[in-house]
Amino acid sequence: PVKKRVFSGIQPTNNVHLGNYLGAIRNWVETQDQYDNIFCIVDLHAITLPIDPKELHINTRKLAALYLACGLDTRYCKLFVQSHVRQHAEIQWLLNCYTPMGWLNRMTQFKTKAGEDMDSVGAGLYCYPVLMAGDILLYQTHYVPVGDDQRQHVEMTRDLAQRINSLYGKQIFTIPEAQIRTTGARIMSLEDPTKKMSKSDPNPNAYITLLDDPKTIKKKIARATTDSERLVKFDPARPGITNLLSIYQILTGQTQEVIEAEFEGKGYGDFKAALTDRLVETLSPIQQRYQEIISDMPALENLLKQGADDLRPLAERTTEKMKRAIGL
Ligand code: ADP
Ligand code: NA
Repeated sequence: PVKKRVFSGIQPTNNVHLGNYLGAIRNWVETQDQYDNIFCIVDLHAITLPIDPKELHINTRKLAALYLACGLDTRYCKLFVQSHVRQHAEIQWLLNCYTPMGWLNRMTQFKTKAGEDMDSVGAGLYCYPVLMAGDILLYQTHYVPVGDDQRQHVEMTRDLAQRINSLYGKQIFTIPEAQIRTTGARIMSLEDPTKKMSKSDPNPNAYITLLDDPKTIKKKIARATTDSERLVKFDPARPGITNLLSIYQILTGQTQEVIEAEFEGKGYGDFKAALTDRLVETLSPIQQRYQEIISDMPALENLLKQGADDLRPLAERTTEKMKRAIGL
């Protein structure tokens, strides 16, 4: 049987954090052999907010190296850089013309990211969901494995694809589905556990990056916000300790009951030490592989070029389909 197609992406801004890993990359790796996977470094999304050109360039390569270091395997996955396939920008314009403003007005991520700057942020930030819809639709994607924060954008992508297909009475686009896991879908900030862990957080202590060394991990976990109850138990009313416990749960694969039993009668210090150990144990091998991969830049560039070359024909076919349907 033909494998179903999976598409997902990450922005090459700052460092990849534990939320990206537990909510996205780790899940992609786990099931990669079951699907025909496309993973994208979405550099066109990264320029929706101000960015340093040199950093954007190097972060794009670093992210590719991290994808591979986390276990994505080119036997099952194509990796590429969004801007290397021009059709992403082209189809975005076409899709823009079919996206009601009301849909974009309802997107919460735009409001969070724009903050008080509503009048001065670039229009690209507002149209971000349309670019994302194009990313997914270009490749006739079946499944989009993402964290909970992207649910709304995938829903909009489905609506847009259905709208265009029915307007022209043709199956121009496959209707994609979001794949959102229940565990790890929403890792919270270490500083303010009511906010999601995010790359754009100005406080680096709010997140753990995949390249943090053991000392840094220890320090960040030690100062992670908890509460004064000193009870190591899952409890939605205590989001700080619950977030840390959820991270521990994913890393160990144990049930809540087993974990609570392990730390019965113990304090936050004991739990935080155990969590630190697990994090170091998980991230060290990734960091080792990362160093090997990033030290052979020509091989990495070649892999990314190959990915884009392999994917371009399908992106072209989909764009042509849409252009013909609308009379261009
Ligand atoms: P960020 O929001 O930190 O800038 P991206 O937008 O590049 O990260 O998201 C990359 C992937 O990581 C997406 O699938 C997204 O849903 C997931 N993700 C981002 N933050 C978290 C989080 N705190 N918890 C779980 N998954 C997350
Ligand atoms: Na995000």
